[in-house]
Amino acid sequence: MKSPPPSSSSSSPRRSPFSSYLITLSFILFVAFLYGEDFACVLRHPFHSSEIQEYSASKVKDDLAAVNEKKLAVVPFAVGRGKKGCDLFEGEWIYDEEGRPQYEEEECPYIQPQLTCQAHGRPDSAYQHWRWQPRRCYLPSFNATLMLENLRGKRMMYVGDSLNRGQFVSMVCLLHRIIPGSAKSMETFDSLTIFRAKDYNATIEFYWAPFLVESNSDNAVVHRISDRIVRVRSINKHAQHWKGADIIVFNTYLWWMTGQKMKILRGSFNGDMKNIVEMETEEAYRLALRRMVKWVEKNMDPNQTRAFFTSLSPSHEMSLGWGGEPDGNCYNETTPIKDPNYWGRSSSKGIMRVIREVFDKSNVPVTVINITQLSEYRNDAHTSIYKKQWSPLTPEQLANPKSYADCVHWCLPGLQDTWNELLYAKLFFP
Ligand SMILES: *[C@@H]1O[C@H](CO)[C@@H](O)[C@H](O)[C@H]1NC(C)=O
Ligand SMILES: *[C@@H]1O[C@H](CO)[C@@H](O)[C@H](O)[C@H]1NC(C)=O
Ligand SMILES: *[C@@H]1O[C@H](CO)[C@@H](O)[C@H](O)[C@H]1NC(C)=O
Ligand SMILES: *[C@@H]1O[C@H](CO)[C@@H](O)[C@H](O)[C@H]1NC(C)=O
Ligand SMILES: *[C@@H]1O[C@H](CO)[C@@H](O)[C@H](O)[C@H]1NC(C)=O
Repeated sequence: MKSPPPSSSSSSPRRSPFSSYLITLSFILFVAFLYGEDFACVLRHPFHSSEIQEYSASKVKDDLAAVNEKKLAVVPFAVGRGKKGCDLFEGEWIYDEEGRPQYEEEECPYIQPQLTCQAHGRPDSAYQHWRWQPRRCYLPSFNATLMLENLRGKRMMYVGDSLNRGQFVSMVCLLHRIIPGSAKSMETFDSLTIFRAKDYNATIEFYWAPFLVESNSDNAVVHRISDRIVRVRSINKHAQHWKGADIIVFNTYLWWMTGQKMKILRGSFNGDMKNIVEMETEEAYRLALRRMVKWVEKNMDPNQTRAFFTSLSPSHEMSLGWGGEPDGNCYNETTPIKDPNYWGRSSSKGIMRVIREVFDKSNVPVTVINITQLSEYRNDAHTSIYKKQWSPLTPEQLANPKSYADCVHWCLPGLQDTWNELLYAKLFFP
């Protein structure tokens, strides 16, 4: 089922008289290698398969036994534990023709036409076949039955912007195959979209709140506003709809990127709107995250529920950054970036620092799904020009496709399925 990651050579220990000789020789070769021109290769394949810990069935059984014996700290939803010393977010992309994707685009009717790239003429499909391989362990394989069994009688909710909506749809696509047609439904009520798995009495929901806190971009349909205004301390208008959720996955980032400053409203949107001040974006972002954490503290029981935060999703607007054409973007990109040190300009280190600081200090556990670095490598995974367009394209645009490429959102199936695999790992194997 899973192909092991590439390894250079077998490194099993030997007990022959030559062993010390071999060790010395390999050390010399290693040093020569390190200082040779092939240094970049070492970085590209930074690990050996022998270092990677397997999630074997027996291991899961041991973990379950340990959970049952209460040897593990009680983390809601845990069925096993994560591998010690394994950072799931550090690793590399491996091409896996058979193992990925986990569903087909035309087989999942819930994907919105802004994300169905094949249906909109994307000529290549390699972007669907990459599997994330953490450096020191395998990701547990996504088991839709296990997920649904554990969601029985529960409410799982994604709250945030269109990128989180994509992740919500990816989760529905990963699960829907095992639910018969009459036992599932998808409905939208204003800002709230609900997928129901009736036999499980489970819902998976998406709630539109691009800033998490209240803003003038909250209308679920009409929200393309360039002069954005937020009320950083006001969350209840949205959060009243989140009460009773057992698992919440938050995100917010894209809508904050309007420049150095944000407009903050002190009064209400129904008032005279006079009391508007400007604030550094990072500071405003920090206040909004803190407000969200305060809500979690007051409204979610850490013994029964889990809260997650998906870190910022990078975009790929300037191909010069990864050694492409001077005026290019994600258009025409078909393979991931190989440079392990690549960090695009679009991802703000300042915002990442704020995320770390806020969640490190919070009194309630909010698990960060750190998708930023691993998504930075995926300049090939955006919807680009292969999506339903909001308005008809002009002849000038058609003559220059990269001018209208969407280098923010991601094709499904694709990268966002991996975000859910990571969420699955953190949920069940904390
Ligand atoms: C998936 O989970 C279900 C329920 O826990 C279990 O019965 C089944 O064996 C699992 N499937 C695989 C392939 O591990
Ligand atoms: C279904 O789940 C909800 C929580 O989402 C719970 O309040 C309700 O009692 C459940 N109903 C049944 C019949 O189990
Ligand atoms: C969670 O469980 C622990 C141990 O059972 C208990 O001490 C604590 O009060 C509980 N917390 C809440 C918020 O119920
Ligand atoms: C896109 O890629 C193809 C194949 O590599 C190339 O022939 C074509 O010129 C590229 N188009 C643009 C606009 O860069
Ligand atoms: C996410 O991972 C990147 C790269 O490993 C790291 O620089 C960053 O600090 C992490 N962010 C958070 C919020 O943990």
